[in-house]
Order: sequence, then C-alpha cells, then structure tokens
Amino acid sequence: MFRNFKMVLNVIFGRGSFAQLEDILLSKHAGAPCAHVYMVDDVFQNTDFSRRIPVRNNDLLLWVNVDDEPKTVYVDSLTQQVRERLKTEPGGLPASVIGMGGGSTLDLAKAVSLMLTNPGSSADYQGWDLIKNPAVYHVAVPTLSGTGAEVSRTTVLTGPVKKLGINSDYTVYDQVVLDPELIAGVPVQQRFYTGMDCYIHCVESLTGTYLNAFSQAYGQKAMDLCREVFLNPGPDSDDKLMMASYFGGMSIAYSQVGICHALCYGLSYVLGVHHGVGNSIVFNHLEEFYPDGVLEFRNMLNRNKVELPRKVVAGIDDARLEKMIDIALTLVPLWENALGSGWENIMTRDKIRALYRQM
Ligand SMILES: NC(=O)c1ccc[n+]([C@@H]2O[C@H](COP(=O)([O-])OP(=O)(O)OC[C@H]3O[C@@H](n4cnc5c(N)ncnc54)[C@H](O)[C@@H]3O)[C@@H](O)[C@H]2O)c1
Ligand SMILES: [Fe+2]
Repeated sequence: MFRNFKMVLNVIFGRGSFAQLEDILLSKHAGAPCAHVYMVDDVFQNTDFSRRIPVRNNDLLLWVNVDDEPKTVYVDSLTQQVRERLKTEPGGLPASVIGMGGGSTLDLAKAVSLMLTNPGSSADYQGWDLIKNPAVYHVAVPTLSGTGAEVSRTTVLTGPVKKLGINSDYTVYDQVVLDPELIAGVPVQQRFYTGMDCYIHCVESLTGTYLNAFSQAYGQKAMDLCREVFLNPGPDSDDKLMMASYFGGMSIAYSQVGICHALCYGLSYVLGVHHGVGNSIVFNHLEEFYPDGVLEFRNMLNRNKVELPRKVVAGIDDARLEKMIDIALTLVPLWENALGSGWENIMTRDKIRALYRQM
C-alpha cells in the first residue's frame, strides 16, 4: 500500500511576507464576519513583532508558554479558553487558528485547531488517524526553523501515559507563511539545536531502510542547505534554514526518522529535555550507526562554538532509566527504518541502556 500523502495547501515565502497574513485571512473568509485566534509564543510579548500581529475586533490573542514542550493538559486548557471566549461566534468556533512560534507553538496551534472540532481530551487522539472531524482552518507562522512542524501531519504531545503525536491528515496546516525575517532574533544556541533537528532528520531519512526517491530528493536538498547554513554561513542563511526545515519535514513525511529520535523521545519524556538539544546530545553518541553524520555534526558544533550539555543521564536512578528505555522501544517504525526488520536483535534493552549511560 502506498500512502496518499497530504501536503500543506498554500505556502507564501519571502522576507516581509508576514505583512500579507491579514490579506490571506481576509480572502479566505471573504465577507463573513468572523474571529481569528492567534496563538503566539510569549517570548514575543511587548516586542515590535507583537505590534504587527493583525488582531482585530472579535479576534483572540493567546500568548502561549513553551518552557515545557506541549502537554495534552495544556492543549485541553487552551481549547477550553477558546471555546469560552468565542461562545457567541457562529458554531462557537473561530474562522482560523494561527500559530506563531517555534515547533512547540506550531504543535499547540495544530492541536487546538483539531480539538475545537473533536470531542474529549487531546490525549484520546495520541496515535495514528484517530481524529474524526476536520480541524478549524489553521495557519503556521514559524519564528524558529528546523523541526519541520510547519509541514508535518503530526503534533507531538506529552500525555499522561505517553509522548506521542496526533498523527492525522487533518493535522496538516492549510496555510504556511515563511518569512525568514522572523527567525533573525533567535538566540544562537537555540537556532543551532533546532537546526540540528533538521540535520538529524536528513541523516536518519537518508540512511534509513524506508528511503525512496521522494524522500531522498527532499532530504538531500535539506542536508545541503544545513551544510551551507552551519558550515559556510552567508547573508541568506535564514532563508536557507527555513527551506531546509521545510524540505527536511517533507523528507521524513514519506520515510521516517531513526535511532536518534527514538532515544530522544525517551530522554525528553523522563527528563524534560527539549527536542533539539535532546537530539544533539543523543546524536553525538551514535557514531556506530551514523559515522559520517556524527563526524559532520561535530564539525558543525565546533564551527558554531556550541558546547553540548554533558552527563545528563549519568546520575539518574534505575527506575527512570528503565522508563526511558520503555518509551524509546515503543517507537517501532523508527527502529525498523534505522535497522530493518530484525532491529530487536540489534537494539536490545542492554544496548539501549549502555547508550543512555554514556550521555
Ligand atoms: N510536529 C512535528 O512534526 C515536530 C517535529 C519535530 C519537533 N517537534 C516539536 O517541536 C518542539 C521543538 O521546537 P523548536 O525546537 O522549534 O523550539 P520551541 O518551539 O520549543 O522554542 C524554543 C525556544 O525558542 C524560543 N523562540 C522561538 N522563536 C523565537 C524567536 N524568533 N526569537 C527568540 N526566541 C524564540 C521559544 O520561546 C523557546 O524558548 C518540540 O516540542 C518537539 O516535540 C514537532
Ligand atoms: Fe525532530
């Protein structure tokens, strides 16, 4: 069976393109009185950017906090806030949900747009194709590049029992606004870690057993762009990083990630380590599996003068380490992509434990 791949419907790209957001929303909802919900990373409160957000009349601006990566309880509470505030709108729904921020904010906005039209808790939908009803029209405005969340069909959430995305065709954004000017102010370390998420997507996709010409075409281009950005930067690096994120996301959408992401999920679930930094910590210990990628990654670390956190796992108790291993082992497609159908014989609990203990 071949997957019928759902893609983002509309994309606008270019420096300054954010200024067209209001026109895009107006043309989409022409004539109808309606409310839009802007979900914006609270790092932008009281900034020049916040004054450019086209909030009008009945619109709702929600500042979202991403100190912790998205949790299902947070999604449920944000959805409830939107419902309460827009009770008087037709159908009780906004016309659109617009997410502005990094991967965490983009995932929160995806999840809220889904939960406004689907009953229950977002935790009920962690898995594959469990969403029944189309989401509210939703728009991504990335302000940090690398995760590919702007193109993917998932929103990664930590729930009461698992860290797993809501994977669904309805999750995919209807509109993406790619304005490289918006990522100019990202702190250097954060830009590097989120950029490495993209680089690692490419390595895992391009070396995986699920690879095909579709994924390869996008993955190779994204990897070349990452090399330019992190080894040979120039004035258009932000433009390139934005496109690398997009293409990296397209590559894994039709293949899969691998060992680094599986181990990172365990690390993040138990220790709360953020995705980009977690992937970087893990990837540095995967020379055995991705020798060329790890070598190049270390060159990028040196070139960008980034020091990885050390001894993150070393001191933790056995129970938490075993939980980390449990979480990592649930990600069967990732292991299968990386190591093939006999992956369980290679990646035993002992092997995973030994890898984690080095980190
Ligand atoms: N849905 C997907 O396909 C997918 C894929 C990979 C990762 N993810 C998720 O993405 C999240 C990680 O996203 P991320 O690495 O983009 O980071 P993030 O969204 O967690 O943000 C990291 C930090 O950067 C700040 N920030 C964002 N934009 C900024 C800007 N322009 N200027 C200054 N600071 C800014 C944020 O406030 C935050 O402090 C994780 O939750 C991960 O699970 C999702
Ligand atoms: Fe990732």
